[in-house]
Amino acid sequence: MRNQQPSIPSLCLGFGGLLATAFWTAPAPAMTLDDLPRVHAIAAPAGQFGKLYLATGAGLFVAAGDGSVAKVSKHSDRYLSLAAQAVEPEILLASGASASANLGVVVSRDEGSTWKQLSAGAGGPVGFRTLAISRTDPKIMYGQDEMLQASSDGGVTWKPISRVPAHVYNLAVSARDPGTVYAATQTGLLISRDGGVRWRTLHEEDYPATMVHVASDGMVHAFVLGKGLIRARESDFDWKPVSAQFGEQALVSFAVDRGDNHHLYALNQFNRVLTSVDGGATWQALGGDRQPQTEAARRGETLYQTYCQACHGARGVGENHSERSLRDRRYIRAPALDDSTHAWHHSDDNLASTILEGSKRAPRMRAFKDILSRTDALDIIAYMKSLWGPRALACQGARHMDKDCQPPR
Ligand code: HEC
Repeated sequence: MRNQQPSIPSLCLGFGGLLATAFWTAPAPAMTLDDLPRVHAIAAPAGQFGKLYLATGAGLFVAAGDGSVAKVSKHSDRYLSLAAQAVEPEILLASGASASANLGVVVSRDEGSTWKQLSAGAGGPVGFRTLAISRTDPKIMYGQDEMLQASSDGGVTWKPISRVPAHVYNLAVSARDPGTVYAATQTGLLISRDGGVRWRTLHEEDYPATMVHVASDGMVHAFVLGKGLIRARESDFDWKPVSAQFGEQALVSFAVDRGDNHHLYALNQFNRVLTSVDGGATWQALGGDRQPQTEAARRGETLYQTYCQACHGARGVGENHSERSLRDRRYIRAPALDDSTHAWHHSDDNLASTILEGSKRAPRMRAFKDILSRTDALDIIAYMKSLWGPRALACQGARHMDKDCQPPR
């Protein structure tokens, strides 16, 4: 064991409380993912292990594998998109908005600490919602706000290219050819082989695609509603399912740890950063999933797995999108019971009455009162709440309306 050095505060206290209060202010508690503002995009730097950048509504952060986060940028601009350059890993590009205006395209050459505008973009300043740089030719990049724009000089000048036929959520550039671009759109996954001018469907389904990513080895990952996370090589586009256990979650940004292509990161639309160490088969929250801490919650977990999980998903992620739910607007999916949607807007009493009495609106949510006691229902609720973060726990029920409701720190 290492010798424990007396910490600075206890040394100061040795000289008397007055000195301590005069010279020592408590270090801010380490930030975790729960404390982050809205995260819009993630990116892993080239050639570094276990480091993930998070572009947020208030600046750039970096996350470590234990789920701790630290702010990297000196300012708090709102980033909507982020891309790490593959050849010089200290270079990052981003776009978004400050309090008063769009940022255009901004660059950092010191791993995200200081930033300056590289270009306003065509007709700008633009606020690209997605930005992608070619790995083979880092001078070539694409961004999307109203239109798809491209740059062939490292982001200094931009020109409008096309209106992609459907709303674009995410762009990626081929690992082989800088003129081949992928777009995850409202009507599915599209590909252009002429630098973004003409587009065609790449995946046979026309369900919305929310994310597309190309790794340096040419592996394309995409998230398609109703299919989940899928992947194919650029050489054959033979799509294979990777994982469909996302429930109501849609992945919106994706990164591969540069040290290891089994080590993946993903951001969902509920501000959660997930990680997989088995090539995408199973996913956990970065820093580890929350676990039930009490006897009641552990008992509730078993009941949940027996009676509820088939519809509400493992760990309360909600029911997967299916062909049926995507085609039939009246189909009511079993909602997430973790804190990603609105289960936490209900009080324990309300949740218990839904469980025991069922839902009139959606008969699939049957009344469980002939199977489960009120204690069983409360134990299941204790389990559900073990999946919730500090804000949902502190502001459950009517208090969710109070924008100022904050968890205690
Ligand atoms: C056969 C599928 C199915 C099973 C099994 C099921 N549910 Fe549901 N559940 C639903 C559906 C569908 C809804 C949506 C009801 C609605 O919107 O009115 C729902 C709604 C709920 C809600 C309301 C959530 C909200 O945010 O308003 C709760 C709480 C809930 N279920 C808990 C449970 C629990 C606990 C179990 C197990 C004891 C369970 N459900 C089992 C399908 C199911």
